[in-house]
Amino acid sequence: MHDKAAALNEKFREASPQDVLRWFATNFPAKVAFSTSLGAEDQVITQMLSGIDIPVKMFTLDTGRLFQETYDLLDLSQKKYSVCIDVYFPDTAAVENMVQSKGINLFYETIENRQLCCHIRKIEPLKRALAGMDVWITGMRNDQSVTRAQAALVEWDPVYEIIKINPLIRWTSESVWEYINTWKIPVNELHAKGYPSIGCLPCTRAVEPGEDVRSGRWWWELPEFKECGLHKRH
Ligand code: ADX
Ligand code: SF4
Repeated sequence: MHDKAAALNEKFREASPQDVLRWFATNFPAKVAFSTSLGAEDQVITQMLSGIDIPVKMFTLDTGRLFQETYDLLDLSQKKYSVCIDVYFPDTAAVENMVQSKGINLFYETIENRQLCCHIRKIEPLKRALAGMDVWITGMRNDQSVTRAQAALVEWDPVYEIIKINPLIRWTSESVWEYINTWKIPVNELHAKGYPSIGCLPCTRAVEPGEDVRSGRWWWELPEFKECGLHKRH
């Protein structure tokens, strides 16, 4: 599979994200799934997919700890683009056991607790959302963090055993915002309040202008630990 991914990266070296999305949607009918966190990059991809009349499954992972602004944008985006975004929730019993044994705000105490919470609230639902799919589309970009600098447009994800495509991988933050402004794409109201990267409310805070875009995520941890496990590098 590594060879195939390398060949596809070469094939799409000059291709636009729209061309890449169309190619995968055409070649893997009903087997392509897009995970949206309603972030700026994801909104760009949602707009692009809405212009490709080949069905792609769209879903979001509702951890139960998201911002109200994120729910508002989920609702607005579904209506504006006439798309259905499936919402996956964590397993109730797993959340109850975790909270009863470790507390409601366990994630601030240790990295292990934080990873457990991400596992139960995101990873397990992600596995269910990707089951039976061949291709997973994400909104990751190289310059978001040290953990993403090496990611490619097309990758084989050994954890979920799926082809992962990151159509905006080489885009800069500036190009994302230029596209959003040109196409008047709705975005999370929190972006204008100093939140460039938005996850769960208790694990996301505003950043100062010029600070790293992901510095407001799990701000109490070192940069190399700042992945929830959705995007494990190998
Ligand atoms: S995270 O792993 O640290 O949360 P980030 O917020 O940068 O990731 O988002 C990167 C990509 O991961 C998004 O473009 C999206 O594809 C996926 N993703 C992250 N969080 C979610 C979520 N709650 N629901 C669906 N997809 C998500
Ligand atoms: Fe839990 Fe925070 Fe991870 Fe959300 S980001 S799943 S609240 S640890």
